[in-house]
Order: sequence, then structure tokens, then C-alpha cells
Amino acid sequence: MNTDINGYPDLPFGELSDFYRNCFNEALEKSCEKFAPTGSGYEALGDAMSYSLKAGGKRIRPILVFEFCRMCKGKLSDALPAALAIEMIHTFSLIHDDLPCMDNDDFRRGRPSCHKAHGEAVALLAGDALPFEACLSVADSSLEPKKAIKVVSVLSECSLGMIGGQTIDIGGANTENLLKMYSLKTSMLIKAACVCGCICAGADKRLCALAGEYAYELGLAFQITDDILDVTGNEQILGKPVGSDEKSDKVTYVSLFGQEKAKKAAAEHTERALSLLDGFDDNEYIRRLSTELLDRDR
Ligand code: IPE
Ligand code: IPE
Ligand code: MG
Ligand code: MG
Ligand code: MG
Repeated sequence: MNTDINGYPDLPFGELSDFYRNCFNEALEKSCEKFAPTGSGYEALGDAMSYSLKAGGKRIRPILVFEFCRMCKGKLSDALPAALAIEMIHTFSLIHDDLPCMDNDDFRRGRPSCHKAHGEAVALLAGDALPFEACLSVADSSLEPKKAIKVVSVLSECSLGMIGGQTIDIGGANTENLLKMYSLKTSMLIKAACVCGCICAGADKRLCALAGEYAYELGLAFQITDDILDVTGNEQILGKPVGSDEKSDKVTYVSLFGQEKAKKAAAEHTERALSLLDGFDDNEYIRRLSTELLDRDR
């Protein structure tokens, strides 16, 4: 395949998305082989981590890392360790989010949730281990040390934000703090992806900040859409339970304002996200991705 000097192929939207997912999945296979190796005595941990990671999500966050790195003229190979790291952290958040003490959901990424397949204790531990594997993915990579330190710092800060958001979520949100909760539980890991992509490319502070602002808006649109899908989605396509929020008496944009207002709000936040992309060259792919996420069915 023909690629530019940074390793990015010149492909139309759908094919580039497939390329990114394949590139990510291939690298993920190799990472998973290193978890809890045969003979370690704790193979069950590695099995649970791989189970959830390989179940296959949409891989939006790794794609954001690749794309922001590309728009900032970085190398694809420099984005890969951070792409793996963010998906490991995101997967940890999903494993814990599904636990009986959190959302108590039995289905994720089209298969039984980690705790249903591997037991609650092992699922908890798999979630514990994934952020450390994420740090290793970056720290042990050939990424320039200065960039690696910045990436680990952003991943850590944003993960703490996500966990803060999850804490607000379980305490029950209200009209006042709903968007704050979304900006933490969802926008933060999306921010980590976008900003890390910029950092891997060696982008300046201005572009990193702009990527963060974009991620804030995209994250709000993403979570509002997730809340809508929790009501209107098809479980088989979605790969996770429908009606989970109502079952848990969750306060969501939909429960507070209804579906119509939720749709409008998601569209507005997407518009704001799009308006922030003008500062990036070559932003057609990311524009299309941002728009398509609004109409997703999974
Ligand atoms: C689910 O994220 C959790 C939210 C923040 C809404 P995704 O919808 O990206 O889940 P996967 O990775 O595709 O499974
Ligand atoms: C999840 O929000 C956000 C996380 C940080 C995992 P949800 O609880 O709505 O996510 P889903 O719907 O279970 O994927
Ligand atoms: Mg939740
Ligand atoms: Mg949940
Ligand atoms: Mg949800």
C-alpha cells in the first residue's frame, strides 16, 4: 500500500477507517500476547483483559489518536503506542462500569460482560491491570522520551477525570451537574485521545488546547447520543443492553429533557466540535467522523 512519508495511506473515508482498525487490531494482538504469559500462574487475568479488549468496540479513541497525529504531521508509528494505551484505559472503564456495584450490565461489545464471562473478582483485577499496561505501552515504546512523558501525563490526568465523572454518575446527577458529569466521564478519555495524537506529532500547545476543546464538545455529543441509544437502540447492533439507564434510575439528558431535546443538543455540540476543527489542516476525515457519530446505531 502506498503511504506518505509519515506512514499514512491516502484512502477514502471508509477505507481509511478500516485501515486504522486493522492497524490497531494487529498491534493489539501483539500486546495481548504479553499479558500474564503462560506459566505466570495468573493466566486468568490476561485472558480476561484480552477477552474485553478483543471483543471489538468501535475503536473511536484509537482512530482519534491516529487522526490528530496525522493532521499535526506526525508519524503513524508514533501514534500507535498511545492508540493502544487509550483503548486499554477505555476498556478498563467499561469493565468496571458493567460491574454489579456500578451499572450491573451483563452484555458488552456483543458478548457477556467481563464479569459474566470471567467472574467478578477477575474482572475487577483485569480492569485494575489495564491502565498499567497502557502506561507500559507508551513508556516501553520507541516514542521520544519527552513525548512519552507528556502522553502518560495526559492519559493519567484524563483518566482521573473519567473516574471523577463516574463517581458523580453513581451518586446521581441533576440538571445542574449533568454536563459536568458528561464532560468528565466521557469527554475526558476522548480528550486524552485527541491531545495525545497531537503530542505524538510534536504539535504546539495551541493545537493541543484546540484538540482538547474539540474533544470536550464531541464527548458531550457522544454521551448524549449514547443516552439516546440506551432508549432507542437495538441490543444486538448496540452490543450492550438497551434500557440500562432506566433500570438503574440514571439521570441522563434523555430522562431530564426527553429525546427530541437530546437529539438537538447532540447536534449542537457536534456543530461546536466541527467549528473547532478549522485550526487543523486536512480535517475532512475528522469532520466526517464527528458527523457520523451523531447518526450511529452502535
Ligand atoms: C462507551 O463507549 C462508553 C461511553 C463513553 C458512552 P463506546 O461507545 O466508544 O464503546 P465501544 O468502545 O465502541 O465499545
Ligand atoms: C459510561 O457511561 C462512561 C464510562 C466512563 C464507561 P455509560 O454507563 O452510559 O456507558 P455504557 O452505556 O455502559 O457504555
Ligand atoms: Mg455508567
Ligand atoms: Mg454503563
Ligand atoms: Mg450508556
